[in-house]
Amino acid sequence: MSQLKNDRYLRALQCLPVDYTPVWIMRQAGRYLPEYRQLRLTAGSFMNLCQTPELACEVTLQPLKRFDLDAAIIFSDILTIPDAMGLGLHFETGEGPKFIKPIINVTDIKQLPIPDPEQSLKYVMDAIRLTRKELDGKVPLIGFSGSPWTLATYMIEGGSSKSFTKIKKMMYSNPKALHLLLEKLANSVALYLNAQIKAGAQSIMIFDTWGGVLSHQSYQEFSLYYMQMIISELIRGTKSADMLSYVPVTLFTKGGGLWLEPIRQTGCDAIGVDWTVDLNKIKSKGQIAIQGNLDPSVLYADKSTIESNVEAVLTEYGYHNGHIFNLGHGILQDIPVEHVQHFIHAVHQQSKRFHCD
Ligand code: CP3
Repeated sequence: MSQLKNDRYLRALQCLPVDYTPVWIMRQAGRYLPEYRQLRLTAGSFMNLCQTPELACEVTLQPLKRFDLDAAIIFSDILTIPDAMGLGLHFETGEGPKFIKPIINVTDIKQLPIPDPEQSLKYVMDAIRLTRKELDGKVPLIGFSGSPWTLATYMIEGGSSKSFTKIKKMMYSNPKALHLLLEKLANSVALYLNAQIKAGAQSIMIFDTWGGVLSHQSYQEFSLYYMQMIISELIRGTKSADMLSYVPVTLFTKGGGLWLEPIRQTGCDAIGVDWTVDLNKIKSKGQIAIQGNLDPSVLYADKSTIESNVEAVLTEYGYHNGHIFNLGHGILQDIPVEHVQHFIHAVHQQSKRFHCD
């Protein structure tokens, strides 16, 4: 196993001291990069990029060639699981994801298979194995999945949604059916993430993009419960002086700022927070790692505005260990590449003074 040349991200995830705050960007490989757009054109479709390990590996490495990032995230999508369950995922230009066979009733749910990750999702594992080899220990590689709740929203709504009426209708009129779906998804996600760990993922992130549309009670019952189930099933290894012996888990619920304490109790190693959270007010800083939380739109601003906003986030977090700098959600597709460069440089430069012993 190759040595890790930059372990700041893994150290911060365990709340250990670092010399500056590690940074990576959600959706760091994507459409704001001209080389991504070019490769996407050659590949013909987004799914072809994901399903061809050599291309997925190349896209994963694109942002690392440009920027001094402290982690790589495998290029894929959260909707690979529903696709492997047979829902037929496709992306229509400018319209986001769509399923040919969305979930309509309990019969559909009962018929769903639990995918074997080394069969129908082998392309993800192959991409991870190849990317680890290509990275050669430069930075750690993050594996990921959607949360059961977030995956279920796409499977039931048939694609992206603003109001979530179909899934909420099922939640209140037939909660048993929804629980059956969430349980199947939790089992599938646990198998999928353990396979990613086995293939070489060095940290895991669970994206609960739509947990924040739930009431606080339903959040516990329909989203957090299943994420906790997954976390308890992950084979994470043991913490030791060797950063590579443990695979930390980050849980990100967009809009979950009011639920940080219940999220912490799932046993995750880090909590991802969006820009609505005041990092000053997080009581458990230093005991659990925090990832975030610059408003992604700040990257539209000029250099000095980006710098002052980075400074504000660093100051809010303060002198505690365990901060991983990121945006509060994915990078927007029309952000100028030079602004991303300024942002990463600003985090590294300005964070040094927060880490002096
Ligand atoms: O972070 C990374 O660089 C890794 C790659 C990654 C993608 N999607 C690539 C992608 C990751 C981690 C995701 C996660 C994902 N996918 C989430 C959770 C994170 C979040 O942003 O909330 C969600 C909800 C999805 C579902 C999804 N995939 C949507 C809604 C869309 C279309 C909307 C959009 O942003 O374009 C996608 C497509 C997608 N996934 C693209 C990329 C680069 C764009 C596809 C293209 O090139 O046309």
